[in-house]
Amino acid sequence: MAKMWAGRFSKETDPGVNDFNSSIAFDARMYRVDIRGSMAHAAMLGKTGIISEADAETITEGLKGILHDLDSGALAFDPNAEDIHMFVEAELTSRIGDPGKRLHTARSRNDQVAVDLRLYLREEIDEIIGLLKTLGQTVVEVAREHTSAVMPGYTHLQRAQPVTFAHHLAAYGWMFARDIGRLEDVKKRMNYSPLGCGALAGTTYPIDRQMTAEALGFDGPTENSLDGVSDRDYCIELASALSILMMHLSRLSEEVVLWCSWEFKFIELDDAFATGSSIMTQKKNPDVAELVRGKTGRVYGDLMALLSMMKSLPLAYNKDMQEDKEAVFDAVDTVKLCLSTFAPMLKTATVLEGNMRAAAAKGFINATDCADYLTKKGVPFRDAYKVTGQLVGYCVEKGTTLEELPLSVYKQFSDVFEEDVYAAIDLNACAMNRRSYGGPAEEGVKGQLEKLAAIFGEGETE
Ligand code: ARG
Repeated sequence: MAKMWAGRFSKETDPGVNDFNSSIAFDARMYRVDIRGSMAHAAMLGKTGIISEADAETITEGLKGILHDLDSGALAFDPNAEDIHMFVEAELTSRIGDPGKRLHTARSRNDQVAVDLRLYLREEIDEIIGLLKTLGQTVVEVAREHTSAVMPGYTHLQRAQPVTFAHHLAAYGWMFARDIGRLEDVKKRMNYSPLGCGALAGTTYPIDRQMTAEALGFDGPTENSLDGVSDRDYCIELASALSILMMHLSRLSEEVVLWCSWEFKFIELDDAFATGSSIMTQKKNPDVAELVRGKTGRVYGDLMALLSMMKSLPLAYNKDMQEDKEAVFDAVDTVKLCLSTFAPMLKTATVLEGNMRAAAAKGFINATDCADYLTKKGVPFRDAYKVTGQLVGYCVEKGTTLEELPLSVYKQFSDVFEEDVYAAIDLNACAMNRRSYGGPAEEGVKGQLEKLAAIFGEGETE
């Protein structure tokens, strides 16, 4: 196919260079937004008298036809086209003739691709926020059923203090809520239209950038034409927000993997969300959680690719920037895939409260409460801490627990101990009495879940 820019050249492009240069294989997915951008541009050209209203109308109708045929599959992408922009324009011209050749007046592919990418990613962000809300709702739903399920909370993966499963899950709820906020921020900052920036230096035509910005749902036009065509920080910001989101998801995935092991057995995955081994018949593997954990690395890689690609590029457009798409599309695709698979896996898992409770009963997670008991009776905390440490050492040596020690033994360590120590170190009490703001006590966690439900739009249909 003859290049639109062939005029200046005396030779055909080398076939290898043609393939190397082409981006249609990965930017074809932007065809809808490309056509939308072109329609807005054509309407503006017509309105400002840069082209005739009749030509603008013909272009719009032609573009509608192309959109329809691409949607239905009647029209296939030409793999030899240089990119989606060239493909649509060439197709338009072959359909409507001269008016098609007027579409690119006062426009460059540099502002065209920049506007396409922003439009495309804006929609993807909305979809990801929707998926995050669904995951958040699942977290809230599961948590609500387990607000009294005491489990060990860990530091250093050592049993530390009692929490509840709901409290633990709600922690992830807040992470996902912040992820939504980050994505909304990205969207806010990127929602300005580069259309009309031209190749880099604007244009002498009397274009109306406000009009196209408004027609495409942007908050306004970008302020500087050089910046408008050469900025890709929104891709980097998006990949960064997605990396943080994947980091959160990878932590929950890691916990799911641990919880499914016989060493923990805190949850059991539904058969539909686990996989077997080709040799070990007893295996039930948490592949979904492991893959999410693994795919986190891909998204970090996409972020790094974007950052490295943009580093030190002089203004304005450079062909390097064509590499933005595969990276940011991969990040977006990966996140959508992970979110939509993870949520039903979590929703259908069986929570084994008894095993959580049994784990909480071992490992002296009520030791802090034992020390607090003494402190509340007037013993300075550091002294109470020491006495409790000695008691724990004694229990470890005797193979027993704080709950099982007779009062007479307690008294050998401190005569402040009385019968009420057993109530103070009772596991349920230890969890439920932690009523400090944000702690695991049932009422407080229920309050958190209400707030989270509001953020995730419970009951709303996405
Ligand atoms: N396919 C190109 C890209 O994705 C479109 C912009 C081409 N601009 C240019 N001056 N060659 O970056």
